[in-house]
Amino acid sequence: VTLAGGLQTPATCVIAERLHKNLERMQSFADSAGFGLRPHAKTHKCTEIARMQIRLGSHGLSVATVGEAEALGGGAIDDLFVCFPIWADQDLVSRLGALTDTLRICIGADSAESVMRLRSLKGRLGISVEIDCGLRRTGVQPAAALGVARAAREVGLTVEGVFTFPGHSYAPGMQDEAAADEAAALEEAAAVMLQDGFGPLVRSGGSTPSARRAHPRTVDELRPGVYVFNDAQQIELGVAGFDDIALVVVATVVSRPEPGRIVLDAGSKVLGQDRPSWATGHGRLLDYPDARIRGLWEHHAVVELNGPGTIRLGDLVAVVPNHVCTAVNLVSELLVVEAASVVDRWAVRARGGHDHR
Ligand SMILES: Cc1ncc(COP(=O)(O)O)c(C=O)c1O
Repeated sequence: VTLAGGLQTPATCVIAERLHKNLERMQSFADSAGFGLRPHAKTHKCTEIARMQIRLGSHGLSVATVGEAEALGGGAIDDLFVCFPIWADQDLVSRLGALTDTLRICIGADSAESVMRLRSLKGRLGISVEIDCGLRRTGVQPAAALGVARAAREVGLTVEGVFTFPGHSYAPGMQDEAAADEAAALEEAAAVMLQDGFGPLVRSGGSTPSARRAHPRTVDELRPGVYVFNDAQQIELGVAGFDDIALVVVATVVSRPEPGRIVLDAGSKVLGQDRPSWATGHGRLLDYPDARIRGLWEHHAVVELNGPGTIRLGDLVAVVPNHVCTAVNLVSELLVVEAASVVDRWAVRARGGHDHR
């Protein structure tokens, strides 16, 4: 991208046209394949994008925290799933209670103990049981879903479904396997629960790398988040191309110590630190596919161009962060770019207090 002058760098910019394309493409994929779409709003944390997702046909949104639900809920955004096994204290219980006054809200659980702590929200709060399908993060094994579901039933909370996050899709070549694991785990857990009289149940899955490999009819709903912007991880997994990148950090070339090496004024404080073991660097450059960010400090990114060095001191370059969700969380607003001009600024609304992150 080339931006008209006056821009202070580093600047976290949304390429509006590409954002719209990404939103529409995922929604029409979900519609035609028969999945409900409940996008994860932790990626953008913006009311503006949340509204676009609902307008395009998403039946609700996913969030990671009660703080995100508070920041984004309201108006057309009236159906939220906190897909995290909340361990509620008195404060969280009363905040969840306040949310149920105006929103339909469901939260994740993977233990009877966490469900018991929500008993005062009886009849007002939905529960979805978290299943582990291979990531080995949170979630019970499918056969153990019943224990959590029964605990919810005992205290009068409605069991609305089962969910899993196939996060092992974040490794080269693992997308099909993760999608198959997701389907098998959701199917087994739902079957055990249906036999015990629970239902109807929503079987919710989906990560961005595995979304297009999800199994229709076994999985009812998908919760991808990153697809709105994409990032260097998605490029290197082969899930997105450079043309699908809708968020970049525009940076200035502040140093060119040798012809093949430039240094940018965008470091870990704006790009984020995430770097999976298989990544080729700390991010990519949108217009220079051969370049790699070999070193990252708080305020510096050191780039090896690996090609003819046409970039000069003072040039602007567009950096694609490795993990866009953490990059968004580092800024308070996103600059919206259309035809090389900044046309709007969107607040990263659900960022801020500790429990909003
Ligand atoms: C529980 C849960 N659901 C959905 C998502 C969204 O997946 P992705 O980040 O691949 O878009 C995440 C991401 O971390 C998640 O933790």
